[in-house]
Amino acid sequence: MQICPGHIYQLDNSEFVLIIDFLEKDKYSFIPLTENLTGGNKITEIKFSQKLLYPVIREASVISAERILQEIKELEKEKYDKILRELVKHSAQLYLRNTKSVAARKYIPASGKVIGEAELDNMIEASLDMWLTAGRFNFQFEKEFAKFLGVRHALTVNSGSSANLLAITALTSHKLGNKKLNYGDEVITVAAGFPTTIAPIIQNGLIPVFVDVDLQTFNICVSQIEEAISEKTKAIFIAHTLGNTFNIDAVSDICKKNNLWLIEDNCDALGAKYKNKHTGTYGHIATFSFYPAHHITMGEGGAVATNDTSLFEILMSLRDWGRDCYCSSGKDDTCGKRFEQQHGKLPFGYDHKYVYSHLGYNLKITDWQAAIALSQIKKLPEFVKTRQQNFELLKKELLKFVDYFIFPEATENAAPSWFGFWLIIKEDVQFSKKELVDFLETNGIGTRNLFAGNMLRQPVFTDNSYKIRVRSSGIKQSSELTDDDFMLLPSTEAIMNRAFWIGLWHGITSDDIKEIVEKFECFFSGVNQ
Ligand SMILES: Cc1ncc(COP(=O)(O)O)c(C=O)c1O
Repeated sequence: MQICPGHIYQLDNSEFVLIIDFLEKDKYSFIPLTENLTGGNKITEIKFSQKLLYPVIREASVISAERILQEIKELEKEKYDKILRELVKHSAQLYLRNTKSVAARKYIPASGKVIGEAELDNMIEASLDMWLTAGRFNFQFEKEFAKFLGVRHALTVNSGSSANLLAITALTSHKLGNKKLNYGDEVITVAAGFPTTIAPIIQNGLIPVFVDVDLQTFNICVSQIEEAISEKTKAIFIAHTLGNTFNIDAVSDICKKNNLWLIEDNCDALGAKYKNKHTGTYGHIATFSFYPAHHITMGEGGAVATNDTSLFEILMSLRDWGRDCYCSSGKDDTCGKRFEQQHGKLPFGYDHKYVYSHLGYNLKITDWQAAIALSQIKKLPEFVKTRQQNFELLKKELLKFVDYFIFPEATENAAPSWFGFWLIIKEDVQFSKKELVDFLETNGIGTRNLFAGNMLRQPVFTDNSYKIRVRSSGIKQSSELTDDDFMLLPSTEAIMNRAFWIGLWHGITSDDIKEIVEKFECFFSGVNQ
C-alpha cells in the first residue's frame, strides 16, 4: 500500500493521521487528527514498519484530505484551524529546508541575525491571524521580555531610536510635575556612540552636555560627570557601549546625589548583567533595539522598560498617539468609565478612547514583528553565551598582537553581553587604521566604527547651530566648535581615529574566529617585513 502525503489514514485504533511528508524508508511525518490534537501539538514523526503497515492502516480508510477536513470542520472549528495552520507551516518549513542551504561564507560580517524555523512558524501564525497591528504576539512578547529582564513594565516600539525618543520625551511630561524636564534643561551624555542616543535630547529642546569616555571600557568617564553638572542638569542618558556596562553604581550614586533621571540606552547590551542583575533595570527607563544587528531581532523594532508605573503610563500614552485611554488594541472600556468622566474642557462623558493627554506619536509595532521576537527571546541566553565565548576566544587569540592594540576590558562587576570586539590601535605603530581596516575588508572580515566616532564632528553638528556644552564649558553653538573643544574629549577623539570593531555575534563560529585571526597574522607578517 502506498502512503501518500496529503492524504488521511485511519489507524486501527480509530485515530486519524494526516500524512505530511515522506522522510526516509518507511518513515513519515504526520499530524494526528483526533485525540492527540489538544494543546501544543506539533507535526510528529511516525515509523510505519513494513510489518505494521497493513494491520495498522486500513486500506479502505484512505480518504481525501479535503473530505476529512470538511468533517472535522463541522465538528470542531478550533481543531480544523489548527490542522490547516500546521499544514501551511509545514509547507513553509519544507521550503526553508530545501532552499536555504548554508552557502560557504565569503565574508564574516561584524553583525548579523540567526533566525530559522521557529521564527517562520510564528510569522505564519501571525499572518494567518491577520490581526496586523500589535496583538496577541506583542502582548506575550512584552510580558516575556519584562520577565526576562526582571522589570515591571516593558513596551514595544518600532525601533531602538524610537525607544530613545520615547524615553526622553516621557521625562518632559506634565504628569511628572516639578520633576519634568523643561526646555533648556541639560542632559549628560557622551559623543562616542550612536547618533540617536543624542538626537532626542535636542529634538526635545534640551541641551546635551558631553563628557569623555574611558579607553579600556569604551564607557562614560565617571570622574568627569560631576564637574559637568550645572543647576540646569536634570538627567544622564548614556549607552552600555558595545555590550559592556558603564559603571552603574557610580553613575547611579551621582544621579541620586544630584536628583537626576537616569536613562540606560541598552540597545547594544541586551543580556548583560551588572552585579548579577540585568542592565536595563537600573535606570528610571531603559531602551532596547531589535534591529537585525542586535542580540535578538524582530526586523525593525525596539522596547522601553521601567519599574515605575507612572512613567510606564506616560510612555504608553506617548507611544499610542498621546491618548489618555489605555485599552489594548481591539478592546474598549477597560476602565469601566468610558463615557463617565470629565476630561479637560471637553463635554462631560466625552468618549475616553478619544481623549489625549500628550502630544504623542504612533510608534507601535505589528504582530509579525512581535512573533519573530517571541521566538528569538527563547534563544537569547544561548546567543549571549555564544557572544561571551567568542569574546574570550578572540581576546585570547589576538592578544599576541598586544604591541599594536589596546584591548577591551569588561567593567568591574559586569558580565557584558558583547555587541562587537573592539580594538584601539596604539599611537606609535607603523600602520594606519585605514590600512588595517582596508586589508580586513578586502580579505572578507567585516569591520565597524564605534558608530558616529565623535558626534560633535559630524555634519549634523558642524552645519547646524545646536546649543551644547562640553564637560564644564559654557553653552556653545555646535557650528562654532573648534579643535580646542574637540580636544576636551581626547579618548573620544582616539576612538574616532584609532578604534574599530569586528564581529563576535551569535552567528560567528570558532572556524570564523580562526579565519579572522589568520587574516590579522597575514596583515602583520606584511607590516613586520
Ligand atoms: C547604542 C544604540 N542606541 C540606539 C540605536 C538605535 O537602534 P535602531 O537601529 O533600532 O533604531 C542603536 C543602533 O544600533 C545603538 O547602537
